[in-house]
Amino acid sequence: MQIITTKSDLQAVVKACKGAKKTIGLVPTMGALHAGHASLVKNAVKDNDVCFVSVFVNPTQFNNKEDLAKYPRNIERDAQLLQSIGAQYVFAPTPEEMYSAEEMNTTFEFDFAGLDKVMEGKMRPGHFNGVVQVVSRLFYLVQPDKAYFGEKDFQQLAIIHHMVERSSMAGTFGALQIIDCPIVREESGLALSSRNERLSAEEKETALAISKTLFASLKWAKEADATVAGVQKRVIDAINAVEGLEVEYYEIVDQKTLLPTNTFANAIGCVTVYCGPVRLIDNIKY
Ligand code: PAF
Repeated sequence: MQIITTKSDLQAVVKACKGAKKTIGLVPTMGALHAGHASLVKNAVKDNDVCFVSVFVNPTQFNNKEDLAKYPRNIERDAQLLQSIGAQYVFAPTPEEMYSAEEMNTTFEFDFAGLDKVMEGKMRPGHFNGVVQVVSRLFYLVQPDKAYFGEKDFQQLAIIHHMVERSSMAGTFGALQIIDCPIVREESGLALSSRNERLSAEEKETALAISKTLFASLKWAKEADATVAGVQKRVIDAINAVEGLEVEYYEIVDQKTLLPTNTFANAIGCVTVYCGPVRLIDNIKY
C-alpha cells in the first residue's frame, strides 16, 4: 500500500492506473476509521481493480472550530487497517496541499435544490458546501469509476447524488457511479461513528437508547392509529427521557426530497442527539 500526500503524486498514480485500463474505486474518509469505513473499503476493493482511500479531515465542512480541533486523528492506525483490507493507495494531504489560502477562506455556494436547507444543513450552515467542495475535488483528482459512501450520513449521500447527477449532465465526472452502503452497527445497535471514540464507556451505554428507540419506532409506525407526527414526537420524547441525551432534531422525511412527509412510504427518520458534548447522528428507513 502506498501513502500519497501531494496532488501531483496522486495524479501521476491515477494517470498510470488509467493508462493500464484499471478501474478505480474511491472511498473518501476523514480518518479515525472503524468497521463502517472498512465495509466501504472492502466493497471498493472487491468491485474495482484498484482502491484509493482519502484520509483528510476537511476543515471547510466544519462550522464549529472546536469540533474540528477535537475530531479524532490517527493516521498510523488508519494505514494499518487499510493495508490489512487491501486498499492500494491512501491519499492523506495537508489542508494547505488540498486548498489555496483563498479556497480555505471563501465560502463556496453550491445549489442543492433545497436538499441542504433541512436537518444537518439547517443546524450546520455551510457544512454541505464544504463537503461538496472536497468531494468534487477528490472526484476530479482520482477520476473514480465508483465512489462509496455510508448511509449513516443520509443527507450527505442525497446531496452527493444530486451533485453527480447534475454535473454528469455536463460530462464532468464521466460515468462515475455513487455506491450507497448500509449503516454498520455494533452488536448493541449503536451506529458506528468516528465520534464514538469521544464517548466515555458510560456515555456509550447511554447512547444505545438512540438506536433502540429508532428500531422501536418501526413497530410504532405499524400501529393502527400511527401518524408520522405522532411517531416523531414519541421518538423525541423517548430519547429525551434518557438522562444524558438531548435530541437536536428528529425529522421523518421523504428519502428522495428530504422534505417532511406525512406518510411512512419511502420515509426515513433522521436523528441528531447530543450525548454529553458529543453530537451523534443515526437514521432509520420506514
Ligand atoms: O463522511 C465523511 O466522512 C466526510 O463528510 C467526507 C465525505 C469524507 C468528506 O470530507
